[in-house]
Order: sequence, then structure tokens, then C-alpha cells
Amino acid sequence: HADGAACPVSDRARAFDPFTGAYQLDPAAALAWARAEEPVFFNPETGYWVVSRYADVKAVFRDPLLFSPCNVLEKITPFPEEAMAVLASYGYAMNRTLVNEDEPAHTERRRLLMAHFLPANLEAHRDRVRALTREKVDAFVAKGRADLVEEMLWEIPLTVALHFLGVPESDMARLREFSMAHTVNTWGRPSREDQIALAHEVGRFWQFAGEVLDRMRAEPEGKGWMHEAIRQNALHPDIVTDSYLHSMMMAIIVAAHETTAHAAANAIKLLLTDGAGWRAICEDAALIPNAVEECLRYAGSVVAWRRQLTAPATVGGTDLPAGAKLLIVMASANHDERQFQNADSFDIYRDNATDHLTFGYGAHQCMGKNLARLELRIILEELSRRLPHLRLAEQDFTYLPNTSFRGPDHLWVEWDVAANPAEGAE
Ligand code: HEM
Repeated sequence: HADGAACPVSDRARAFDPFTGAYQLDPAAALAWARAEEPVFFNPETGYWVVSRYADVKAVFRDPLLFSPCNVLEKITPFPEEAMAVLASYGYAMNRTLVNEDEPAHTERRRLLMAHFLPANLEAHRDRVRALTREKVDAFVAKGRADLVEEMLWEIPLTVALHFLGVPESDMARLREFSMAHTVNTWGRPSREDQIALAHEVGRFWQFAGEVLDRMRAEPEGKGWMHEAIRQNALHPDIVTDSYLHSMMMAIIVAAHETTAHAAANAIKLLLTDGAGWRAICEDAALIPNAVEECLRYAGSVVAWRRQLTAPATVGGTDLPAGAKLLIVMASANHDERQFQNADSFDIYRDNATDHLTFGYGAHQCMGKNLARLELRIILEELSRRLPHLRLAEQDFTYLPNTSFRGPDHLWVEWDVAANPAEGAE
């Protein structure tokens, strides 16, 4: 405690480990005890205060002045000097984007960059998402077995993201590797040895982002969100800064695809496990939008986020000092009985499913949420129409160890090809 008071850390608070074990498998279940008995607790392993109840997580999101997002992209596992030197050798200077920017700079910048995200402007992406999804399903529909992560789910959101951003399509597999390195670098628990290798990979990602930016600057009429940011940078260099452009170019490639790919994998896994929900959407595609929200609530792809106190404050009855770092666990909030009746049951008809906090809340709420929803709906529409007899294959699920981004590394499914519905059936 900053004030020197006794700091009673319970055994469970001490044992909580957001990098392995129970939290990786099911973060909401791993924090059921906290929601019930110790809603805000200090975790020595990370040095973070963990916030587990819906009302508290939402209250933290609601006040970005008291609960600053400045630590959102901080390495949760500090890097040794040696790894920092590697990063420096690449000129690495990841700084504020939007998600970790304080007020008033954040809101001024967000306003200038909002237009592309408005629902009317997302319509242009609908046909492309549909065509891309059909192309992927066509490629495996006659095989009877597929790993949906490998064969469609990471590539669709990445392709859509690059197009949305106006980033020329390049080596997609390389971008996927970069994204995983960035995730482990920022939210993971890499060993010292891994940190050196990661520093090189993240350094190369940073340089790649800079090169892409230079190429895009040479095309002043270019289409897409990052081209718009480049134009706003020329008009308002103090608001949409050079540092913003380079940092965002790297961060958004990850934010715009990994989140959505994981959300789709979690949703399909959940629907197929449940069975009833899957059969219902196969019979009536109009149920898909609410099913998507319930999947985001029950098994979201961003499970925890961070904030840092700018002044002393009380959260969930616990007094916290200025500077305290918070891990706010949306996966836990989304399973809070105080907000969701029978929170642990999966119900695609739930009437307040959209209350979930998977996209955050308030001033920083995910700008890409409607693009993500559009993709998730289309992926479920196409899969349920073409492969209603899909089932999960026997498998052990594994997850990339980190506090925040969650989705299975692989998702094996099977079906009886002879029972495939006639091609083109609506
Ligand atoms: C911010 C989740 C997809 C762009 C965020 C935040 C979360 C989040 C939790 C922080 C919210 C807060 O602090 O209140 C997700 C999830 C996604 C997803 C779960 C998919 C299911 C996307 C996509 C894009 C995107 C597809 C872009 C094309 C952004 C941006 C911000 C953001 C720009 C920063 C907003 C700000 O700070 O003002 N997202 N995201 N996201 N997301 Fe997403």
C-alpha cells in the first residue's frame, strides 16, 4: 500500500494467475469467488488490482479522467534492459494511439477519425465480407473436416481490416505472426529468452508499419481509414500527430483482426457446444444478431482491459491509492448475476445480451464494434446455411497465454459431406 497500511492479500488473490491454468480456460469461472466475496483484490503476481463485478468494471470505464487508459498498451511483463535495447535498435517508439490516450487529446482525435466507422459507411464492406466468407467455405465444404481458425477465421478479419484501413494487402501470414508477437509482448508473460526474440519481432513489426505508412503517404487520394488519418495529420498535426500515425498503424492491424477472429472462433465453439442455440440459428437466421451479442457476452474475445488511477478512489468498496493499476475483467463482469439473470447459462434469446462489456464502454468504447458485428453475423449466416450439420471434433483447446485476448488456437469441426445441403440453397 502506498500509505503503508497493512495489505491483506488473501490466498486466492495471491494464487490468481492470468497467464495460465483456469483463467486461460475460463476467465469468468476462475473469478467466480472474487465476484462473490472479494470483488476488488490485489494480485501480487501482476501488481494489478483485479476488478470483477459488472457495476465496478462499468464505473471504471465510465470515468477516463480518474481511471486513465495510459497503461493500456504497457508491457504487463516488464522487459529487461537487454530486450529494451533490441527494441531501441529498431527505433521502436510505440506511444499513444486512441485506446491509451488521455483527455482531452483522445476525444479531439477520435472525433476527427470517426466517419469511417459510422454504420452507413460500413455498408460498403458487407458484400466483400460475404464473398470472402463464401470463398473460404467453398474451399473446405466437401472435405468433411476443417480447422476453422486456420482455414477461415483469422484470414477473413485480417483481409477485411486491411481493406478498411487502406493498407495494401501484403504477406498475411507474416502479419499474423507480428500480431501474435505484439500480443505476447504487451499482455503476456514471456520468459527472458523469449523477450529477446519478441523484441526483434516487435521491432520488425514497427519498421514494417513505418514502411507501409511511407508508401501510403505517397498516395494522397488513397481510400481507407489510415489514409484519412494521414490527411487529418496534414490538416491537424497537433491532434493527429506523426507519433499517432506510426503507433496506430501497428496497433490497429492487431486490434482490427485478432479480436474479431477470436470472437468468431469463440462464438462457433460455444454454439456448437450448446447445440440448441446452433440449431435455432440454422432454422432462423434472424436470430443471429442477438446470438452474436450473447456469444460476445458469454465468451468474448477481449476478456480484460487496463486502467490507472490518477487520484485516490474507492472501487467496489475498496480504497485504492493514486497510481494504482487496475485489471478490469470484462469476462467476469459479463457473468455477473447482478446484471445478467442465470449469467452462466447461454441463451441466444437473452434480452439484455447487448449490455456486455466486451467492447468496453464510454469514451473509448470500441470504434470497430459495428464492423466486427457485421463480420461475425455474416460468418455465422454462411456457416449455418452451408453446414447446419456441423459438429465439434474431439480436441483439447489451447490459448495464447495472455491477460486480454482470448480465442482457441485451433477449432476442429466435422460434418457428413453426404448430408451437405444442396449448393446455393438459401
Ligand atoms: C477499442 C474490443 C474489433 C478498433 C477497443 C476496446 C475494446 C475493444 C475492449 C477498448 C474499449 C474501452 O476502453 O472502453 C474489441 C472487440 C472486437 C474489436 C471485442 C471484436 C469482436 C475492432 C475492429 C476495429 C477496432 C474490427 C477496427 C476496424 C478499435 C479502436 C479502438 C478500440 C480504434 C480505440 C477506441 C478509443 O480509444 O477511442 N476495442 N474490438 N476494434 N477498437 Fe476494438
